[in-house]
Amino acid sequence: MSARTEPVPVKGKEWYKADDVAEEYDSKRFSRGGRLIDRREKEAVLGALSPVEGKRVLEIACGTGRFTVMLAERGADVAGLDISRAMLAQGREKARDAGVDDHISFLLGDAARLPFPDDHFDAVFAMRFFHLADTPAKFLTEMARVSRGQVFFDTFNDFSTRVVYNWLLPMGSHLYSREDVERLVADAGLSLATESHDFVVPYGLYRKIPGTLAADIRSVDTAVGDTVVGERLSSVSYWNARVPEESDPVTAAERASEAE
Ligand SMILES: C[S@@+](CC[C@H](N)C(=O)[O-])C[C@H]1O[C@@H](n2cnc3c(N)ncnc32)[C@H](O)[C@@H]1O
Repeated sequence: MSARTEPVPVKGKEWYKADDVAEEYDSKRFSRGGRLIDRREKEAVLGALSPVEGKRVLEIACGTGRFTVMLAERGADVAGLDISRAMLAQGREKARDAGVDDHISFLLGDAARLPFPDDHFDAVFAMRFFHLADTPAKFLTEMARVSRGQVFFDTFNDFSTRVVYNWLLPMGSHLYSREDVERLVADAGLSLATESHDFVVPYGLYRKIPGTLAADIRSVDTAVGDTVVGERLSSVSYWNARVPEESDPVTAAERASEAE
């Protein structure tokens, strides 16, 4: 047996800057059984943010614009920010093809320093980002700062099948416990409004198998996921948090005491 000598690749922000990674991003993940994942994630975003028409929305780490374009098509005024030029180029092309490039601004930038004033957006969200985040508290605090209403994001979970996936394919993903998320949300001054948990079978399997087989597995996956144990084992969670209203007495009192 030979010892592993190659360094473990970490899919941090550098990984997505390569042209070939960006060009293959969608086809590798969202063809075959992966279409199911794309659909579910889009449902999660729409479910949380709807109605989107006329809303000013910021997507953090928008990548190839899967959600940015979807929201612009539904009448949102969307900005997509990402640290990779190559991923943004894919997003711009997708927006042009969909005829919504006039309704989206794609911006090159770091989620740790958002180039927007406080309370600028109605909603701010990030998908498939927090597992890459080395400083999640800083990112979530920035998201909360520029939102006046809502902050939505997903996490990959510890104590889930994702642990096995990470072990088989070590890519340096950060996995979160419920307590981690609750702490991050509270520290960012947000309050958790709703949540949902899904994919007892992790994403990695779906994208490797044909769509018909994936549909069968998905039926079992959702049936198991609807049980208490299944929910606990889900590999993905979607978290919908709110920026407390100024009139919230606790928050107002806290702010007043902070200002002293
Ligand atoms: C897994 S991809 C997800 C893309 C998109 N949200 C999606 O779900 O299809 C992660 C994205 O995060 C971006 N990213 C990583 N670190 C970032 C940072 N500090 N600021 C902004 N974007 C970042 C990468 O360039 C990449 O496009």
